[in-house]
Amino acid sequence: MTGRFVTFEGIDGAGKSSHVEALARWLRERGHTVVLTREPGGTPLAERVRELFLHDEMDALTEALLVFAARRDHLRQRIEPSLAQGHTVLCDRFTDATFAYQGAGRGFDWTVLQQLERLVQGTRTPDLTLWFDVEPIEAATRRAAARAPDRLEREDEAFFKRVRDGYARRCAEHPARFVRIDARGSLQTVWSQVEHEVTRRGWW
Ligand code: TMP
Repeated sequence: MTGRFVTFEGIDGAGKSSHVEALARWLRERGHTVVLTREPGGTPLAERVRELFLHDEMDALTEALLVFAARRDHLRQRIEPSLAQGHTVLCDRFTDATFAYQGAGRGFDWTVLQQLERLVQGTRTPDLTLWFDVEPIEAATRRAAARAPDRLEREDEAFFKRVRDGYARRCAEHPARFVRIDARGSLQTVWSQVEHEVTRRGWW
């Protein structure tokens, strides 16, 4: 029996990370083995790539190649073996982030990203993607309250509007696995939507 692969997406400051943790708790309470991971990152090699990616200046092609290289290692070393053991994999960001940030945000070629996606992932895609959607202005307020910004978080509101449009485009292209979560409300309001979505699939 292979496990389920769930990814969490949204612009920086949408509040998704608390829900990754909350869903992990929810699943563990029901006796499931959960692997919590993130991108870029999730393996020693990919975590080193993450440091470069978040702090060094580079062009959009370099960004895309780095995140896909890190993803390749992450899939081979961690995601695929965990799914093969029947574990649930919860991943904070995955390939939709590359389409949203490098594709829509930076204007990098969507078709080339689709080719890289096939090359790196084969047929592997998430079973479910929870997209935490919030206005860029609200996300900026939340980010400012939470932490010092990294290289991408320093981008302006126009960039995050494009990233959000990129997520909307991916959502329209992959309606079967993509769910839009209205991330404006309180933690509890947003969690109720997450719980509803995972419950109604009947997988756990
Ligand atoms: P995080 O802060 O949510 O861990 O994400 C790290 C940053 O990397 C975030 O600003 C989004 C960005 N990113 C990309 O630009 N492309 C990608 O493919 C991924 C996975 C993340």
